[in-house]
Amino acid sequence: MNPPDYEYLRKLLKDQSGLDLSADKQYLIESRLLPLSRKCGVTGIDDLVQKMKGGSSSIVAQVVEAMTTNETFFFRDKIPFEHFRDSIMPEMLKARAARRSIRIWCAAGSTGQEPYSLAMCLKEMGASLARWRIDIIATDLSQEVLEKSKSGIYSQFEVQRGHPIQLLVKYFKQNGELWQINPDIRAMVQHRQLNLLHDFSQLGAFDVIFCRNVLIYFDQETKISIFGRLAKAMEPDGFLVLGAAETVVGLTDVFKPFPDKRGLYRPSGPRATTAQAAMAMPKIAAMAGR
Ligand SMILES: C[S@@+](CC[C@H](N)C(=O)[O-])C[C@H]1O[C@@H](n2cnc3c(N)ncnc32)[C@H](O)[C@@H]1O
Repeated sequence: MNPPDYEYLRKLLKDQSGLDLSADKQYLIESRLLPLSRKCGVTGIDDLVQKMKGGSSSIVAQVVEAMTTNETFFFRDKIPFEHFRDSIMPEMLKARAARRSIRIWCAAGSTGQEPYSLAMCLKEMGASLARWRIDIIATDLSQEVLEKSKSGIYSQFEVQRGHPIQLLVKYFKQNGELWQINPDIRAMVQHRQLNLLHDFSQLGAFDVIFCRNVLIYFDQETKISIFGRLAKAMEPDGFLVLGAAETVVGLTDVFKPFPDKRGLYRPSGPRATTAQAAMAMPKIAAMAGR
């Protein structure tokens, strides 16, 4: 790939999805986009770039999707789901006893293993959730992964990764070499395409946000902006759950970590209004050394 095409793709991906590629990731682009160029019937990445420069929005969307990393598995990292079951939900059940509703957002839900793991945790809680309304909203930039998530169909390999066998038997039906999650679990998750770079205030306020293993692909400025907007999208006593390699520490003070619960954060103050959040941004940017 020639250097100008690489620079063009780097900038495009940063603008469209937040993906922050260092100068030496040509191999990654080649491994993801050569198959796509064949699928699109063009001879290589340079042709793909020409089509993008020529204004093909469909190719741009396919390139952005092809460059997303969708790695996920059921009950990934285990501990966040233990926090969810043992700390987050018991506290939320007390705090929301008057309204009996809880809103949960999986902000980069990929192919569904994360939101469905949460749904299974809730199902396991049984009678304690009777007459409660629990919404799980799974969003992702990629339409392709959302389609798979909606289908709830997984390979043998996918259901075996991290999935306790008793939950597999209880909540899935086997169909040949594939497994489909049961309709009642599927119905607990709503799906929407959403780019975290864009405004998400229309989703409303959440009690719990899982935003795991997506911010690692973004630069500091993008992370800070997303944290600021996540804080606005969260009830003051809500919980933010990040991935094992992600943290707010050193980036922003809109969330504070739980000292004894890795990966778990809480908003630092009352829910910021749009105007307050806008005023806070330069301060946060300054903290990041910009
Ligand atoms: C590595 S997966 C993480 C899935 C799941 N949260 C987990 O931890 O197992 C990252 C997901 O983030 C999505 N993604 C990447 N950029 C995004 C963006 N700008 N907005 C929303 N989702 C994005 C990708 O499509 C991908 O499905």
